[in-house]
Amino acid sequence: MLKQNLQKLQQHPTPLYVYNISLLRQTLQKAKEESAKYNYHVHYALKANANAPILDEVRALGFGADCVSGNEVKRAIENGFSPERVVFAGVGKSDEEINYALDQDIFCFNCESSHEMIVLNELAEKKDRTARIALRINPNVNANTHKYITTGLEENKFGINAWELESVIALLETLPNLQLIGIHFHIGSQITDLSVFKNLCTRVNEFQEWFEARKIQLEHINVGGGLGVDYYNPEQQPIPDFEAYFGLFNQFLELRPGQQVHFELGRALVAQCGTLVSKVLYIKKGISTNFAILDAGMTELIRPALYQSYHKIENLTSNKQEERYDVVGPICESSDCFGKAVMLPETERGDLVAIHTAGAYGEVMSSAYNLRDKAAALYLN
Ligand code: LLP
Repeated sequence: MLKQNLQKLQQHPTPLYVYNISLLRQTLQKAKEESAKYNYHVHYALKANANAPILDEVRALGFGADCVSGNEVKRAIENGFSPERVVFAGVGKSDEEINYALDQDIFCFNCESSHEMIVLNELAEKKDRTARIALRINPNVNANTHKYITTGLEENKFGINAWELESVIALLETLPNLQLIGIHFHIGSQITDLSVFKNLCTRVNEFQEWFEARKIQLEHINVGGGLGVDYYNPEQQPIPDFEAYFGLFNQFLELRPGQQVHFELGRALVAQCGTLVSKVLYIKKGISTNFAILDAGMTELIRPALYQSYHKIENLTSNKQEERYDVVGPICESSDCFGKAVMLPETERGDLVAIHTAGAYGEVMSSAYNLRDKAAALYLN
C-alpha cells in the first residue's frame, strides 16, 4: 500500500504518520462482526490514538469510548460519541475531570480506589447526581507481557485488590450518590498468549460468585482490553484474530441472565493501520555496524526506547542487496534506536523508510523533546 503511494509520500515532509483507512475499516468491521456474535459491547480505548479521522471511523461502526482523562472524555464527546457509551477509568481522576464527566452524565466511572469513591460521591452529591460506577478489580493475573504494560498484578497501582473488596462494599453502602453497576478488569496490554485471557475469565467467574454470595447484582462485566498484534510480521496477520479472542470469552466467562459484557480494545483496532514514514538523513560507519540515521526518532515513536519493542522496518525506495544497519533517530539519547543489526537493502541518504504497526501508542505518545516539531499525519484510503 505504501509502495503504491510512493509518489504521494515523496511529496510530503517527513517524519510523517500514514494511516491506511481501508485497513482500519476492515479491522473495525471484523471486530464488530465477531463481538456482535455474542452481543458484546466494545469501547475503543482512545489512549491508543485519538486523531479525529480515526475516531470518525470507530464511532461510525458503533463502538463506545474508553477514556482515561477528562480530555479524552471531551474528545470522545466532541467527536460525536454518545455520553451513554463513554466509560472513564484511571487511578488519578482530578476533581475537574470528574465534574466534567458528571456534567456529561457518562455511562460509567471505573473506580480504582475507595478514596476515589469517596471523592466521586462528594462531587456527585454537590451536583445532586448519581454516578454509575464499576469497581476496577485487580485480579492478580499475570499478563505475560512487558512489565511496563502489565496492570493486573497486586504490585501494580491499578484497581482494587481482592482483599479490600469487603471493606469497599461496606463503604459503598454509605455513599448514596454512587450506583454500583458492574465490575471492571484490565490486566495489561500487547497480550499475545490468549491463555492469559482464559485465566482472567476464571478470576472473573470467582469474583462473580463472591458478589453473588453477598446478594449484589452486577449488570455489567468489563474485561478491559489488551489483545496484542504481530509487530514482527504485520503483513502476515494485518487483522488480529478477533474470532479466537471473543470466542474465548464466550467459552470461559460464566454470565448471569441479562448481564452485558464490555471490552476496551485499543491497540488491536488501530496498531496495524498506522506507519511512521521517515527519510534517511545520513549513513555513518560504526566500529561493527553501519548506522542509518533517520529524521524520525523517539519523539515520534517512543515504544522502542521505552519498552524495547521492535517495529518492523522497511526501506520503501531501495531494492539493492541487503546490509546490516543500526537504525537510529536524531535525538540526543542512546535509546533513540529503532532496531539494531536490522537487515535492509543498501540504504542511502534520501531513502524513505517505513516503521510499521505504529497506529497505536505512536503519534499519541509523541513529545516535543529537543524542541521537535510534531509530525504530520496523512490518511490514505
Ligand atoms: N483499558 C484500560 C483500563 C487500559 O489501561 C488500557 C491500556 C486499555 C483498556 C487498552 O489496552 P489495549 O487494548 O490497547 O492493549 N503505551 C503502551 C500501552 C499502554 C496501555 C495502557 N492501557 C504501549 O505502547 O505498548
